[in-house]
Amino acid sequence: MGDFDLFKLIRDEMEIVEARLYENVDTPETLLYEASTHLIKAGGKRMRPGFALLAARMYQDDISYAIPLATALELVHMATLVHDDVIDNSSIRRGTGTVKCLWGNRISIYAGNFVFAKALAIIAEYKRSDILEVIADASMKICEGEIVQMLSCYNVNLGLKNYLRRIERKTALLISLSCQVGAMLSTSDSRQIEALRRYGYDLGLAFQITDDILDFVADEETLGKPIGSDIRQGVITLPALYALHHDEHRDELARLLSSPQECQQSTEHIIDMVCESDGIEYAYSVSQHYANRSKRHLELLPDTPVKETLRELADFILARDY
Ligand code: IPE
Ligand code: IPE
Ligand code: MG
Ligand code: MG
Repeated sequence: MGDFDLFKLIRDEMEIVEARLYENVDTPETLLYEASTHLIKAGGKRMRPGFALLAARMYQDDISYAIPLATALELVHMATLVHDDVIDNSSIRRGTGTVKCLWGNRISIYAGNFVFAKALAIIAEYKRSDILEVIADASMKICEGEIVQMLSCYNVNLGLKNYLRRIERKTALLISLSCQVGAMLSTSDSRQIEALRRYGYDLGLAFQITDDILDFVADEETLGKPIGSDIRQGVITLPALYALHHDEHRDELARLLSSPQECQQSTEHIIDMVCESDGIEYAYSVSQHYANRSKRHLELLPDTPVKETLRELADFILARDY
């Protein structure tokens, strides 16, 4: 995805990030290297490094100092994906076999930890405890978000608040901090940094809501991962949550979603029910709300081509199909 058009303002830097990803997971242990580079090779949107570099570019032309940080953010993201695929028992990611599927659980856990530790080593070089703190805090919250999600499976009595808390922690915070720390390297204006942090936060919520919608409606090949995996695992996301509260068949849906067996065996049927309710449209409207709110935080920032790109990214996230 190195040719992702919305990153054209930072294309050169993104290319260097791509090469650094490989360099940074270098190890004499071939097995660990192969498992760690597998996901890099598979591509991905590289949103987190992209956001960090764009935020840095907002205030400086030469942003070479932000490249290691951007690389580290993709490594943190990748570590969470490798572990997430173990937890979710997923076999396809980024259009190819997951580390879990190809190497099994034990290697996946080590590869995830290894990649995460590599990211920490890069971040340590900056000797910026403020940046380290933000990243450490979000890394803890990602685990909290994933645990809350796990504990909330098959529970049809939880509402919007529980859902938003989950997606905030598991996804929005890392996107938010990518914008924030990119800016922290490049300006000391705390109001501007805060505006970028908030932009990333709202965008991150919109991003995960779209991910949750795509789990119902996407084309698997384009998405690069299987659809229906949330329902199969009993993870109740926004479209299902809406149907559970508003659809005429909500009692039947509640019965199905609270049963691990039905979630496994009647996945297609549940997906159809959710799609026939207005759950998808509703989730899009909520995602749109956060994407719009994210754009409003940009008003405080200087009018530059970067600002326009950040606006376009908010629109992309809403309309994406992968
Ligand atoms: C996947 O993130 C996990 C979520 C937080 C939804 P991305 O959709 O950014 O995955 P890649 O990096 O493009 O593979
Ligand atoms: C991923 O959430 C969140 C992480 C922090 C890894 P999902 O489970 O929805 O992500 P996908 O759909 O597997 O990419
Ligand atoms: Mg998953
Ligand atoms: Mg998902």
